[in-house]
Amino acid sequence: MSKFQVLNHPLIQHKLTIIRSKHTGTKVFREVANEIAELMVYEITRDLPLADVEVETPMGKSTQKMIAGKKLAVIPILRAGLGMVDGVLQLIPAAKVGHIGMYRDEKTLKPHEYFVKLPSDIDQRDLFIVDPMLATGGSANMAIEALKKRGAKHMRLVVLVAAPEGVKAVQEEHPDVDIYAASLDEKLTDSGYIFPGLGDAGDRLFGTK
Ligand code: URA
Repeated sequence: MSKFQVLNHPLIQHKLTIIRSKHTGTKVFREVANEIAELMVYEITRDLPLADVEVETPMGKSTQKMIAGKKLAVIPILRAGLGMVDGVLQLIPAAKVGHIGMYRDEKTLKPHEYFVKLPSDIDQRDLFIVDPMLATGGSANMAIEALKKRGAKHMRLVVLVAAPEGVKAVQEEHPDVDIYAASLDEKLTDSGYIFPGLGDAGDRLFGTK
């Protein structure tokens, strides 16, 4: 069974409440969603491996640490996942960015893949899949499937708000993928939205309706 972790640092909780509010407009929503993503990645990357390197300071030579291991990539699930990419890149500016386009059929609520463009060395990278909302888990499961089909081996799913149903669905289908959320919310509504959630993340990020 994969790990599911809520990253409930006070700053993350505070910022999440700001974007939950229906009175928060597009500009602030966008900024704060990225800030939360940045704080989450700071927490998640605590386990990145380090290696000894030689460095020559103005005072002389010494052995210090630098990040080692596999290179990273961030994979937003379009379109709402785009709202977390800049936050991740603030901390990992050299990460490559792959895109997976999924849309949710409004009637069936089922996800469909329409675009996949990934770094060519996807099989050698540790991936952060980002999507603000983990609702039914349908899009996340399809995105993970699409990545595995193309050779991806190690990935984590990073979401702002998760519904219990979505966490369960991903854990059951992909027990090798750890999930990180800023909040585990109460439930999914009959119309497939997370309650209390924050509404439609894509619409709120891009000012559409
Ligand atoms: N997608 C959203 O944008 N919001 C939800 O509440 C669920 C899925």
